[in-house]
Amino acid sequence: MSSFATKAKVVFVLGGPGAGKGTQCSRIADRFRFTHLSTGDLLREEGSREGSQYGTMIEEHMRNGKIVPVEVTCSLLEKAMKSSGNSMFLIDGFPRNQDNLDGWNRRMSPKVDMQFVLFFDCTEEVCVKRCLKRGLNGSGRIDDNLETLKKRIQTYNKHSLPIIQYFQGTGQMKTIDAGPDADQVFAQVESTF
Ligand code: ADP
Ligand code: C5P
Ligand code: MG
Repeated sequence: MSSFATKAKVVFVLGGPGAGKGTQCSRIADRFRFTHLSTGDLLREEGSREGSQYGTMIEEHMRNGKIVPVEVTCSLLEKAMKSSGNSMFLIDGFPRNQDNLDGWNRRMSPKVDMQFVLFFDCTEEVCVKRCLKRGLNGSGRIDDNLETLKKRIQTYNKHSLPIIQYFQGTGQMKTIDAGPDADQVFAQVESTF
């Protein structure tokens, strides 16, 4: 999307921490013509960018499993969309709360067509297991530890689930059973595109 001359197509990708959003998005991006934008990765990048005025705030939010204010997140997403040269995006890990959704609607909804929401449905137990394993495998993330995961799960239940329920209500959601292995999950994903 070098400019907003053509309306960009967006798929929101939601699911608990460790549900497999990133894994499946990179497969979708390989197979279809989407650019994968991981909101968490964009925030981590900004958080560690030298000279960023948001570095400390982002790190603090991540360590506590809290959601960063949408003005920061939406700016990063818009910048990444504009510099991608593409017009089709998987927006992974967004919108995570009402503030995210409201901010997006104010700033972006006139410029993009949101196609649908891909929801990776996964039990809390499996989510936690996958994140802890990711941490042990050297993710280097400050939030793949049990203490932060408890907070991330709380945030997910309190603030993200209502957004998922909202999209379910509008009929814009496609739900994937994220429990099986990645190949089986992708087989379900493929049939939704
Ligand atoms: P998210 O982006 O939703 O946090 P990731 O895609 O990073 O999730 O996956 C979390 C961890 O679980 C990673 O280490 C990944 O390799 C692993 N993983 C992803 N999908 C599956 C799956 N279907 N079964 C088992 N492990 C998975
Ligand atoms: O999606 P991911 O697990 O990479 O997100 C990691 C962290 O990034 C979240 O726990 C949260 O602190 C932050 N985040 C956010 N707003 C989003 C997505 C992620 O604040 N929309
Ligand atoms: Mg991820």
